[in-house]
Amino acid sequence: MGKKISEHVTWVGKVDWELKRFHGDEFSTDRGSSYNSYLIRDKKNVLIDTVWQPFDKEFVARLKEEIDLHDIDYIVMNHNEIDHSGSLPELMREIPDTPIYCTKKGEAIIRGHYHQDWNFVNVKTGDTLPLGETTLTFVEAPMLHWPDTMFSYLSGDNILFSNDGFGQHFATESLYNDTVRQEDLYYEAEKYYANILNLYSPMVTKKVKEVLALNLPLSMIAPSHGVIWKENPAQIVEKYLQWADAYQENQITIIYDTMWNSTRLMAESIGLGIQKADPSVKVKLMNAAKDDKNDICTEVFRSKAILVGSPTINYGFTYAIGGILEMIKGLKFKKKKAASFGSYGWSGDAPKQIAEKLAECGFEVVGDPLRKLWVPDQKAIEECRSYGENFCALIRQQ
Ligand code: FEO
Repeated sequence: MGKKISEHVTWVGKVDWELKRFHGDEFSTDRGSSYNSYLIRDKKNVLIDTVWQPFDKEFVARLKEEIDLHDIDYIVMNHNEIDHSGSLPELMREIPDTPIYCTKKGEAIIRGHYHQDWNFVNVKTGDTLPLGETTLTFVEAPMLHWPDTMFSYLSGDNILFSNDGFGQHFATESLYNDTVRQEDLYYEAEKYYANILNLYSPMVTKKVKEVLALNLPLSMIAPSHGVIWKENPAQIVEKYLQWADAYQENQITIIYDTMWNSTRLMAESIGLGIQKADPSVKVKLMNAAKDDKNDICTEVFRSKAILVGSPTINYGFTYAIGGILEMIKGLKFKKKKAASFGSYGWSGDAPKQIAEKLAECGFEVVGDPLRKLWVPDQKAIEECRSYGENFCALIRQQ
């Protein structure tokens, strides 16, 4: 059943409580997600976005409880990744001639996915669609986070339909930002930004400023995942501007993998050294093989510097460290510093290779890689602590 969110708009989406993995295995969704679709009823009726394909029949059946499908005058697709466009085939079987408003890239993506010659209407920034008492205005937002993305703004009810932008993978019983635990909401919003949008931060800044310059009255931001920002919607806009500006907190994250606990011992000792040198710094230790990769990337996003450690195996670093470094590389974090470390038995290649990889990832690598032979003894542990202290001094200087 739909939920009315404003005079003209009803939420007709799907809450996916059981979703634990998204984008294949690329994104962990521990708190589930939702696929938000919205029905605007005015002199003309509009459906904004659909839901993921596994829920297509349920979505269309529920939509029929809300409205005779033939009374839908237009479909607006703000973004056409399958979690939003996946129910189009089921819906279009019933109303095949209904115009689909989307960007030119959106049309190409829908055609590429579903191979159907539907009635597409391409829109650009500034184009409008009068509905009666309300009007939709389209704003292209390419690479937030796909080339086809656009926002749609509904005047009258003053709602910005932002699709993935400002979204969170967060399944809740309630629809609004002020009805959930703020700590959970902000963690999910930040994790979403760090793992999906961070590499497009220059576009985020540009687009947010462009939309703010329009001075549109804003009563809600209605994204395609998670809660609707109804209570002070500007708060998430301000957060996005902060997050897009090479965000960092007073935090250092130590990411490590370990085979027989020697590299773990080094990681913990380095952490103690950092805390001794600067008790105000939050130190976060994460095991690349055991902790969630998206949580690790979120901690990297928050950090001013990171240390990455791996034992040497087969003349290189471990699979888990290789995986997390590859993710970090893709997310293009800016203005962060880094160093590397690891235990070894003979060749000891990993720390140097990690330092090279960190430089490739865009980090400013400070200090030499730290290596310790076999199991660190008390002297080696003291040296790791000193390394942590010195790392603090190095990142302060440069
Ligand atoms: Fe929620 Fe880019 O799809």
